[in-house]
Formats: sequence, structure tokens, C-alpha cells
Amino acid sequence: MAVVVELRNISKRFPGVVANRDVSMKVEGGSVHALVGENGAGKSTVMKILYGMQHPDSGEILVNGQAISFKKPADAIAAGIGMVHQHFMLADNFTVLENVILGYEPTKGAVIDRDLARKKILEMSNAYGLEVDPDVLVEELGVGQRQRVEILKVLYRGAKILIFDEPTAVLVPQEVDELFAALHGLRADGMTVIFISHKLDEVLRVADDVTVVRAGSTVAEVKSSDTTPRMLAELMVGSELPSPETTGSTRQDLVTLSLKNVTVPSSSGARDVVSEVSFELHAGEIIGIAGVEGNGQSELIEAIIGLRNSTGSISFRSESVEHLSVSERRDLGIGFIPEDRQRQALLMASPLWENRILGHQRSKPVMNGFVIDKKATIADTVSIMAEYDVRAPGPDTPAMALSGGNQQKFIVGREMRGEPLLLLAAHPTRGVDVGAQAAIWNELRSAREKGMAIVMVSADLEELIGMSDRLLVMLRGEVTAELDPKTTTPELLGSAMTGAK
Ligand SMILES: Nc1ncnc2c1ncn2[C@@H]1O[C@H](COP(=O)(O)OP(=O)(O)O)[C@@H](O)[C@H]1O
Ligand SMILES: [Mg+2]
Repeated sequence: MAVVVELRNISKRFPGVVANRDVSMKVEGGSVHALVGENGAGKSTVMKILYGMQHPDSGEILVNGQAISFKKPADAIAAGIGMVHQHFMLADNFTVLENVILGYEPTKGAVIDRDLARKKILEMSNAYGLEVDPDVLVEELGVGQRQRVEILKVLYRGAKILIFDEPTAVLVPQEVDELFAALHGLRADGMTVIFISHKLDEVLRVADDVTVVRAGSTVAEVKSSDTTPRMLAELMVGSELPSPETTGSTRQDLVTLSLKNVTVPSSSGARDVVSEVSFELHAGEIIGIAGVEGNGQSELIEAIIGLRNSTGSISFRSESVEHLSVSERRDLGIGFIPEDRQRQALLMASPLWENRILGHQRSKPVMNGFVIDKKATIADTVSIMAEYDVRAPGPDTPAMALSGGNQQKFIVGREMRGEPLLLLAAHPTRGVDVGAQAAIWNELRSAREKGMAIVMVSADLEELIGMSDRLLVMLRGEVTAELDPKTTTPELLGSAMTGAK
């Protein structure tokens, strides 16, 4: 396919900051091309330049082989380029239809031909799975639907090259899937999509090619099929990432956790989601549980902490705990980092210091005798925030005001503060940036050295292989393989997870 957009050495300064310094990229027609980089790397600026909203200080832009210089977005639109912005630019008190055709109204004589517009909009909605009622007011729409309106607006204006600035930042996972299906539909119809993101997993899911920018400059242009999230992350930050590798065994003789034939029925009781799982975990040891999501890993962890009923035996330091409640198990020294942090680990509307108490109502420094020691709790919250780099204004900030990564760092810090003897960690670094991920790995490793036993579930196979002393693979509720992390690779583990031989 021919190159439809080429940027050559685009540079742009704002007072006191260089937003772009020699950004170059080549985008092939009929592809999805991702532009990735850390916050502030200059992604939005260079795309606003392509869209005619900003003007470069130097550099060249070629569209379909022609050098162009757009004075304003209308020039870019005339050349078939559209942009869906990070912050939507819709008129709330207009209908979807009015927003879509605004400035580009079809006319019949001197009147606007609404029927024609409606027909066109419905055709485009159907073609790309962008369902939205043309006659409702935009103010009544949720974020995902507003985004559809923006996309329809861009398509309505005849764009063949569509730029999306971090379109998934505002979407829930289900909407992300729908958006990606729409992007692939556009590609199938020969359109070109440029997709800005800093979420590397999703970039590799949706894009054919990836351009990486760092501190305003292009540092790499790669095919998705030739790269990994880790390689892209290293290009983005410009240095080798810390590795999750644990070295040397710190396993003690003491058995911290012993499971025998643990079976967990599904919530409806219709079938078993975990069947007959047995293993022993020693102090100072990390066991990694691998599996495609939904094969019983989460339910197994929930059974160990007591959130789900199970049969078989679960013993903690030789004491049987099946009959104990969640808080009784916590009191014995079992820590828990749940999979669904917003529902199971946080009170979203409550301040961080109250969240510090959650799950630790009976331990120091939260409790002093029988009363909550607010002062000590607040002080401890502040120290967790410092130690785990939780970015928030202060201990009074409600949990919901934090980004997902910062919520996660707070939860990990809170659990580690309790110095549990056993930590059940579901996706301990999910959603955190690479620096914070390394810090969490370090904390877990040093706790392991001091004798903490850890059961870790993670979808990040490099993390799982790197951190674990032993690896179990779960498939349809059963442990189907045990692998040695020293000799396995993400590919081998991946095929064990799907049951391939
Ligand atoms: N209109 C502007 N005025 C001044 N500085 C800006 C403007 N737009 C962007 N910047 C600065 O340029 C740099 C790159 O920003 P941006 O292109 O938005 O990055 P990204 O989209 O990769 O996060 C940042 O330091 C940002 O603060
Ligand atoms: Mg941006």
C-alpha cells in the first residue's frame, strides 16, 4: 500500500517548551497506525499540526505524495483528514444529526435536507457498528456514544484519514472492543486510521504499525507483529526496563499454605469453577498461577481468602482455615490484593485514610485498643503515599479521584503494611506505569526474602515467569501443568494456558 501521510522532521516550540523536535512518520494507506509515547511526548501536538490546528516551525507534510500546508482544520478536512479529539467538541443542546452536519448541511433548494442527512448517518452507523439515535440531544448521551457522534461527524465530512487522540481513555472495556471493531471496519473499507495511545497492550491489539515518540522526537517505527509491549515501553522511556527476575531461592522449610483438593462451585452451583486443586507453598516462596482469564484463577484466590465457599482443605501454617471468615483469615496474616480493585478493595467515595482502614479494622496503627486512631491512620496513609508514590493531593482525597495506577499502588502499599505472612496477589501491577511496576516488584521480592509466601495471578506473562519460583497453569478450573519458570518462555506458557501441546 502507498504511503498516504508522511511527516518529515516536524518541529514545534511553545514558549519555554519544545513540543516536537524532528518528528517523522510514514503512514500507509488502509492501515491502523499507532502513535505512542509518554504523556507530554508531543503526540497531540504533531497530530494537531497534521490537522491544521497548529502550525509547525519547520518540517514538511506530504499527503498522498503532495506537500501541503494547512492553515486551518477546514483545509485538512477538504484534503480528507479528520480528527476525533481527546476532549469532544460537540454542542450539547443540539441533536446528534445537527452536530454531525453542522457546517456541512446538505440543502434542497434553500432548506436543509434533513432526511438525506439522516439516511447518510444511519448508513454510516450501520456500516461500522456506530449505533446512535440521530434525533436525541447530545447532552443525553454517555461518553462512548458522544465519541461515536464525533466519528460520524468526521466520516460525514468525507475523511479518508482519521486521527484519534487517545480515544480509549474515556471508554469502558466493552466500548473499547466496539471501537476497535469500528476501526478495523474503516480499515477494511480502505480508510487509514492514526491512533494515539500510551496503552501498549491495546496498541498491539489494534494497530498494524507503530511510531514511538520520546521527548518530542521519533525514536522508532515498527510493525506490531515484530514487537512486544515491553519493547515499546523501553523505546518510550529510553532505557532498559527493570526486570521482574527473582534470583536464588529463599524458600524456607515452613509450609505457609497447603491446599488439598480444593473445589469451588460456580455462584449458581451448576458446575465447578475450580476443581481438585492441591499444592503446598512454603514461606519465602512465590507461586504463580497462569491461565487465560476465566479459568478459575480468581475464584481460587477468593476461596483462599474466604470470599467463596469451597470444599477440600485449606490450611495456613498447619491450621485449618476453611471455617474462618475473611476477616479472621486476615487476622491470621493473610493479605489480599483483589482483581477488581474498585469493587473489592476500595470505598471509592471515601478518603484515602478511611480506605487505609478497609480490611485492617483490627490492626495497628489503625486501631488503638478498641478505637480507631484517626491521627495514626492518617500519618500511615501519608507514609504509604510517599513510599509507593501514590500521586494524590493528600490523605483526604477520595479514592475515586485517583487514576487506576495510583489506586493500585495505594492498595499494594496498604496490604504490604500489614506485613502478611501470605499475600494473595491478583494482578498486583495492573495499570501502573513501568517505574511503579518495578517498585512493586522490589517490594514483593524483599518481602519474599523475609519469608512472605505469595500466590500471584497475573495476565502479564513476563511478570509471572520472572517473579515466580514455581508456575501452575489452570485450564477450566483444573491445574493442568506445572512449569519451571527458569526454563519457560511466554510462548511456552501461553500454549500451556490454551491447552496446546
Ligand atoms: N498550546 C500549547 N501551549 C504551550 N505548551 C503546549 C501546548 N500544547 C502542548 N504543549 C506542551 O507541549 C508538550 C507536548 O504536549 P502534547 O503534544 O500534548 O503531548 P502528548 O499528547 O504526547 O501528551 C508538553 O510539554 C505540553 O505541555
Ligand atoms: Mg495528548
